Parts: sequence; structure tokens; C-alpha cells
Amino acid sequence: MRMGIIVLGLIALLGCSSVNGDTEWWQTMSLYQIYPRSWKDSDGDGIGDLQGIESKLEHLVDAGVDAFWISPIYPSPMADFGYDISDFMDIDPIFGTLDDFDNLVATAKSLGLKVVMDFVPNHSSDEHEWFINSMASVDPYTDYYIWKNGTVLENGTITPPNNWVSVFGGSAWTWNNQRQAYYLHQFAEEQPDLNYWNEEVVAAMKEVLVFWLDRGVDGFRVDAIPHLFEDSTFPDEPLTGDTDDPTDYGYVEHDYTKHLQETYDMVQQWREVLDNYTENSDGVPRIMMAEAYANTSMTMKYYDYGAHFPFNFNLISNVDGSSTAAEIKESALDEWLNNVPDNATSNWVIGNHDQSRVASRYSPEQVDAMNMINLLLPGVSVTYYGEEIGMEDQWISWEDTQDPQGCGADEDTYEDYTRDPNRTPMQWDATTSAGFSTSNSTWLPVNSNYLTLNLAAQIDADVSHYKVFQELTTLRKEAVIQEGTVNVQLLNDNVMAFSRELESSSDSIMIVVTNFANHTEMISLEAFENAPDTLVVSIASIDSDLTAGTTVSKSSLEISALAGLVLRASTASGASAVVSSGVITLFMAVLANLRY
Ligand code: GLC
Ligand code: MG
Repeated sequence: MRMGIIVLGLIALLGCSSVNGDTEWWQTMSLYQIYPRSWKDSDGDGIGDLQGIESKLEHLVDAGVDAFWISPIYPSPMADFGYDISDFMDIDPIFGTLDDFDNLVATAKSLGLKVVMDFVPNHSSDEHEWFINSMASVDPYTDYYIWKNGTVLENGTITPPNNWVSVFGGSAWTWNNQRQAYYLHQFAEEQPDLNYWNEEVVAAMKEVLVFWLDRGVDGFRVDAIPHLFEDSTFPDEPLTGDTDDPTDYGYVEHDYTKHLQETYDMVQQWREVLDNYTENSDGVPRIMMAEAYANTSMTMKYYDYGAHFPFNFNLISNVDGSSTAAEIKESALDEWLNNVPDNATSNWVIGNHDQSRVASRYSPEQVDAMNMINLLLPGVSVTYYGEEIGMEDQWISWEDTQDPQGCGADEDTYEDYTRDPNRTPMQWDATTSAGFSTSNSTWLPVNSNYLTLNLAAQIDADVSHYKVFQELTTLRKEAVIQEGTVNVQLLNDNVMAFSRELESSSDSIMIVVTNFANHTEMISLEAFENAPDTLVVSIASIDSDLTAGTTVSKSSLEISALAGLVLRASTASGASAVVSSGVITLFMAVLANLRY
């Protein structure tokens, strides 16, 4: 009896620090993006694959992430490295087989990791059998894509039906001899846009979702959503006046090819597919994350139409390493936090396969501070592979350029467009090809800095980006991060800080301070009324000259150039030590009771 009471007491004690029972798994997740060509090659062909990913899943557990999203692994001619899909329901032999996929999912589950697939609904490959049949006008595929007669000029030549421009440059229309018509492609010409006005296309793409749900996936990252629907009367887009080059995507506005209301309605339909699946199976939510480069209101609108969350690209699109602390606060943090709907789950993204790496877009010195912002603000954090060790962009020659967005430009301008520099192989260690492949020759060259910048070295080092990352993912699991309020403050021109706090406990406060200047700054944290007079450094960026455990004063604190610090009330870490020693004492008491 007495022991029962003690055990109940123990459970209650531990319960205090546990997180809210109503939270669904995805709302607090740290998500990791794997670019499959570049993560781990198992068969020595210089291209990453599924068995490679499976062999390295322990890394994700070690890094403390909860879920991973894999960029496309479906059969593809690789015109856009997997974003041109020739079969939505299979695996490309470069990456492996469906069996490899099932094994990967099983291993992920056994490690407690959730698996998110990339769903690419806007277009297929021009080698998809749907398109091959559509070119030949074979039903029901005839209208699976957007076909249009050209405009016949007086001299007899045919030109595209209107002035729409492809994201990758050039007309969004390509002439097809077989069909004697133009087809629409908002991306590369090898990526014909599917016709969402056709109910059969809508139904076929829903089947794709169910196919992967049946294989055990936990959700989808949905690619290029704003481009789904186009105006079916095909008007010319208005000119922006920004450039004279009619082949540049910025030549026209995209009023008739992006953000149509029907696109949002389709997202809502996909949500219904996911929710039905959940209801008819185990009740665990399957999630949908929307990739939409859009203004704030168009982005937030995805919450109203069924997305679990639209990616928050503010730290990518609105600011960079040249931004002031005020700009970071206003254009990235406040812009999101002041506009996100009530009760919606926020998210933070600092990199992906389409963007220059954090160390290059900001600076190598800011990697830890940016990871602090990404991982300690409310909601989901999204980490692109390699950012946990601060990988940097690698310059790629014109000859080695692979990305269609780079190849579509010319030798003088490709560097402005190419996404290859941020897609180089994961730097695991200092062996051949950074431990990515046994081959010396990899699909993109390994970054030349891999001998010193690699995961193994950072595991061995006392202080490293990776160790900071691990400390951050550990901290994320605490209630103050999962449930706490957020308060963002500009401390001076160069220093931004935010606190996370639990209303129930005043010593729970945690403050992240980030200096965006190239010099040391003296600041005061008086703006955080609830902070105690002295604080303790809990996590420090690697070049900050401060170490965990150092006591600092609220009224005057020195923060070095580009540093990031996580500060806590001295009682916060002490408190958890007291709790655990209390637990141990109680256990001893239980044991003592049992013995006598
Ligand atoms: C998305 C992807 C990008 C791809 C494009 C076309 O923006 O992130 O990599 O090129 O869609 O599918
Ligand atoms: Mg479209």
C-alpha cells in the first residue's frame, strides 16, 4: 500500500515536466530533409540510395531528430533529379526497389522515426506513360495535360498560345509534333503540368497518396503547390517591367498561373484523403506540409485549407547574412508570429535543396545561432541534411553543372541559378568521398573542405556545430520549448533575443540571444521582465568564448561577434537536478522499504 502511494507520487512528480497530452506527434517534431542522391551511397555508383539511407538512420537518432522527409525517389529520367516522375508508384532503380523502401520504413519505425515522402502533384515526367498516351490522344489520357493550339502568325509560323514563362526560364509552352499542339510546363519542358481541371487526374493523384500511406508513410511534403491550377482561359500575364528578357520568370506577373483558389481547394481534398486514412486505420495523424513560396497571407491561407503547415520560408526569402537584427526580427520572426492563425502550429525552415546553405547564405560563424533560432522557436523545425554540421556551398564548374536551373542559363550567369553547390554529398568522415561513397567519383563533387568539416570530426571534438545541434534537439524535448510562450525583443541594432516561458513556472524561462554584428556587443536583458538577475549559459555557439555553466548577469552581458547563446535561470537546470535526485531518494526509500 505504502509503496503504491510512493509509486503514484513518483509518477505525479515526473508528470510535472512532461508535455501536454493533447499535442500530436508532428506539432513538436524536428524534421530532417534527406536529399537522397547526396546522403549515403551503398553500392559505390557515386549516387546515394535507399540502402544507404537505411544504413545511416542511427545518425538521425543520434542527432535527436524525430522525422525525416526524403526528396523524390520515384522512377525518373532525372531531368530535375527526381522532381520529374515517370511513375508515381515505384522506386527508381538508382535508389533501389520497393522492398528496399519497405525495409527502410520498417527500420525507421523501429528507431521511432517518422517518414515523410515528397509528393509532386503539379507535373509528371514527359516519359510518364500518361504523357506518352496523352501525346497520342489515347483516352482517358488525352486531357491529362494542358494542350493548346499555338497562335498562327501571318507568315505561317506558329508561336506559343500566350506569354507565360517557365520557372526555369523560357516559354512555359513546348511544341509537340506528334500531338501538333503546345503543352504547358511551369518548370522544365520535361515536366509537363498535369491538368487539374480533369477529375480523372484528381482521382489518380489521390490514389498515389493512398499507395504510399499503405506502405506506412507518415505524411507528405507537397511540392510546388501554388502552380497546380492555371486560368483555363489562358490570358497573357501582365508584364512586371522588372526586366526586358521575355525568357526570365520575372518578366511577367503570375496572376493566372499561381495561387488560384482551386489550388487551395485541392489541398483541402488531399487533407480529407489523409484524415479518412487516419480514421480508418490507427487514428495517428498523417500530415501534409505545403511547399509554397508566397506572400504571408497566401502562405497562411494554406492553414485554412487543410495543410498541417505551409513551410515558413521567411528566414530564407526575407533575410540573410547581410540583414540587421531588426530586419531578422521584423521580416522573419514577427512577420510569421504576428500572422500565424491562432492554434496553428508554426514552423521554421533555414535551408533546403533549392537554397544556398546556411553557412554560405549567412556565414559559417552564424551556423549555431541560426540553428538555435530554427530549433527553439515554437513549433516544427526543419533541417536540411548537413546543416547539423554546418556544411558549406561548394563551387561547381560549368562543366560539372547538373541542375537544370543552372544548365538553362549560360556559362556567365549559371552561378546565379544553379542549386548544385548546396546539394553536394553529406560529409560523414575524412575517408574517400567523405564517407559518402566508396567511389572517388560522385554525381556532384564532394566539398573540398571535407577533411576537416565532417561529422566524425565533430563527434570527436569537444566543441562543434554538431554538439550544439544535439544540445538543441535535447532542449527541444522540454516543456518550455514544446509549450512555452514566445517573446521576441530587439536588444540593440545588432542583437535580437527571444524568450520561451511556461506561465506555470517562473524559473522555466529560457532566452536565446543572437548577435548579428561582426563585433562584440554589450547588452542588457532587462526587456525580459521575468528573467532573474543572474542567468546561466546553457548552450553557446562554438566561437562565442563562453561555455555552458557560466553565470552571466541580466543587466550587462557581453556577446561576441555573430554568436548565439541559450540562457536559463540558474534554478532551471538546478531544478531538474533536484527533481532527479528527489526521484532517486524516493527510489532508495522504496528499496529500503522492500528490504525491511
Ligand atoms: C520544387 C522543388 C524543386 C523542383 C520544383 C519542380 O520547388 O523543391 O527542387 O525543381 O519544385 O518540381
Ligand atoms: Mg500546374
